[in-house]
Amino acid sequence: MQDVLLQLQKEALDVFLKVQTPEELEAARVEYLGRKGRLAEAMKDLAALDVDARRDAGKIANDVKRTVEASFAATEARIVESAAEDRQAQEWLDVSLPGVVPAVGHLHLTTQAIDEISDIFAHIGFVRSRHPEVDWDYYAFESLNMPKEHPARDEWETFFAEDEGEIALGEKGKIVLTPHTSNGQVREMEKGVLPIRMINIGKCYRRQASARHLPMFHQFEGLMVDTNVSVTELKGVFDYFVKRYFGANRETRLRPYHFRFTEPSFELDISCAVCDGTGKVDGVKCKLCKGGWLELGGAGMVHPNVLKAGGLDPDVYTGFAFGWGVERTMMMRSGINIDDIRTLYKNDLRFLSQF
Ligand code: DAH
Repeated sequence: MQDVLLQLQKEALDVFLKVQTPEELEAARVEYLGRKGRLAEAMKDLAALDVDARRDAGKIANDVKRTVEASFAATEARIVESAAEDRQAQEWLDVSLPGVVPAVGHLHLTTQAIDEISDIFAHIGFVRSRHPEVDWDYYAFESLNMPKEHPARDEWETFFAEDEGEIALGEKGKIVLTPHTSNGQVREMEKGVLPIRMINIGKCYRRQASARHLPMFHQFEGLMVDTNVSVTELKGVFDYFVKRYFGANRETRLRPYHFRFTEPSFELDISCAVCDGTGKVDGVKCKLCKGGWLELGGAGMVHPNVLKAGGLDPDVYTGFAFGWGVERTMMMRSGINIDDIRTLYKNDLRFLSQF
């Protein structure tokens, strides 16, 4: 019995000495020290011995078990250490190597334009405000002197929200994606803080898509309301903005026009940067403009009915309003020569990274 045990110990120590990997270590442990391993099997034979022999052999068996366990522990420590050394060798880091520079993006050119536009207006006291981009048709149309079913509404090719196949209705009428930022006019008046010098910049939505039209675009809406506001102030604000944003070389023209929510009303045009105001590029009709002029947007003196809708007395207060497209305004500035407005939102980095 003793010989068997000592032979087993010798064999186990040899095996542990040769072990190189965690898998081999585990296999050796199971073979010699496992619940059904060789040592456990040998221990079972002790039961067959008489009392004295069992005591002696039992003592040896315990020594052998302790020795083999110690060998296992030493082997395990050796394997863990060598794995750590391997990892260290593989993961060695040279901190003096040049780093990998992450790609740094920048604000989209429309966002840059919005910041610039609000900054220009801030200099003459116009405060940036935000109004809903999903709103009731009351603010988008009705309060702007366009009663329900009025044909003027057709000019704004409006998206309506649906609720289970029906046009969704809210507290103040149908729910629309705002087709213009003019919905901010009466909302601003309802705040009841006067005088008003607001610049509302937001997203607008219309059913349209072409080289000149986007289904989603941005407008900025100016509104000034006070006592004794006249067209003179309106013109002064236009002039200030155009000088600051476009520079002195861009031409503008004010055309009489008609809007339901202003009286009198105007359209402001500015000369096209793609064709330099000529209407042609390489002898071909310019894709961006009509005859060298681009329409920036509308303006006018706030209609008395709109003031009333905002809770203001038109005999006391007067005001002017204007609304222009951000994308168009930005593209008309010299230096940005794109002949299809949809390029702005195609997310092509070859285009976007240029600005
Ligand atoms: N909301 C008009 C549009 O989207 C533009 C406009 C015209 C805004 C006249 C105004 C205004 O504030 O007075 O076409």
